Amino acid sequence: MTENQQFIIEGGYPLKGKIRLSGTKNAATKMLVASLLTDEEVILENCPDLGDVQITAELCQIVGGKIKREGNTLKIHTPKITNHRVKELSRKNRIPILALSPLLHRTGKAEVPILGGCKIGPRPVDFHLNALRQMGVEIKETESSYKAKTDGLKGYNIELPYPSVGATENIILAGVLAKEKTVISNAAVEPEIIDLIKMLQKMGAIIELGTNRKIYIEGVKKLYGTTHYILPDRNEAVSFAIMAIATNGDIFLEEAPQENLITFLNAIRRIGGEFKVEKNGIRFFRKGELKAIELETDTFPGFTTDWQQPTVVLLTQANGTSVIHETVYEDRFGYTEELRKMGADITIFTKCLGEKPCRFNEKNYPHSAVIKGPATLKGTKTEIYDLRAGCANVIAALIAKGESKISGIEHLDRGYENFEEKLLSLGAKVKRV
Ligand code: EPU
Repeated sequence: MTENQQFIIEGGYPLKGKIRLSGTKNAATKMLVASLLTDEEVILENCPDLGDVQITAELCQIVGGKIKREGNTLKIHTPKITNHRVKELSRKNRIPILALSPLLHRTGKAEVPILGGCKIGPRPVDFHLNALRQMGVEIKETESSYKAKTDGLKGYNIELPYPSVGATENIILAGVLAKEKTVISNAAVEPEIIDLIKMLQKMGAIIELGTNRKIYIEGVKKLYGTTHYILPDRNEAVSFAIMAIATNGDIFLEEAPQENLITFLNAIRRIGGEFKVEKNGIRFFRKGELKAIELETDTFPGFTTDWQQPTVVLLTQANGTSVIHETVYEDRFGYTEELRKMGADITIFTKCLGEKPCRFNEKNYPHSAVIKGPATLKGTKTEIYDLRAGCANVIAALIAKGESKISGIEHLDRGYENFEEKLLSLGAKVKRV
């Protein structure tokens, strides 16, 4: 456990060198859950060893999964679901709601813990529950859990109110073994979802990707074991790419996937960072002064909300006034308070400061930021509120003058594999205490 540990970072050193990206956290966890759909073995290659994967592995073990890890290969075999109840996990993440579908397929019953809100907003699961109910599942909410049962899931035409990543994944897991067809309209199409679909297809599922955010699933009777290589983490890529540019360094990211970073690369070019796409990765560096920009976060293929926090730090170093409109989460700028302590000039607005009003318009959510730069950041004590915000604290400390003490680093351990080792190998002056 890493609670109460801190990072001490001495800022002002350019990060230089090469690192290999890890497999994607937000695909690995879903794939572990998807492996529960079959009684055969599933082998996940390039599976990062980080907190969220460990928590999900614990969940799988509670219901009967047998897990073996050899380096970055994780083998999971669940011949029988021995327990349909996930009452408690030693640590929390947002994955248990996805376990409903596999448990229901295999036993007709499921119970998973209720997850509260977190530092980036209330994070409801109403889309998940409504969709499963439409597919023939009875769900009761108790004080601490969702209890579900079914006589068999049935396909349904589901229109999502918003292209939610988790809800799309949940409906896919429900649809692959359901009777008849499921159609998801307004589905999320993040690269991690496509990778999950690729794995399920290898397991025997029939899933079509339509145009206009439609996913068609034809239920099959059985799914089989498979081996799947998890796609490299585009969020980790962005974290290190911004470190390279912000510290005036030069980092080559082995396996960085250009196709999943197109929107980010365009933003980086507008800001004045440079990159060179090579055969097996992308090199990031800086060329001259950084410029202010305006951007909006969005679902894929838009500018991902998980890139917003490191980008805000980069924009504190740009000349002029930048504007960021966060349209995915209603309250994901809380961490800017920590940056202000370091000397950043950032003001948060409840108004939609974007091209068009988003669904948070006139709801009083602090979801737009105005950043004035360049600001000289000074090392100080800061606290991490959530995973991606934590990355922002670290990047700010890397460019700040003097020493920073960052607490709450368990959030980083949940989402980044060997984070500190990677930072050290690039020349960062970082110490865990
Ligand atoms: N939403 C609802 N009701 C629902 C589901 C979602 O209103 O039932 C709303 C959310 O409140 C939010 C929006 O829809 O405003 C998008 O949420 P989504 O369901 O897409 O997010 P998620 O599946 O919970 C995943 C990632 C997040 C990432 C988002 C957006 C995982 C484990 N998490 O969350 O990643 O920010 O998609 O791309 O895959 C992270 O890695 O640190 C992280 C937070």
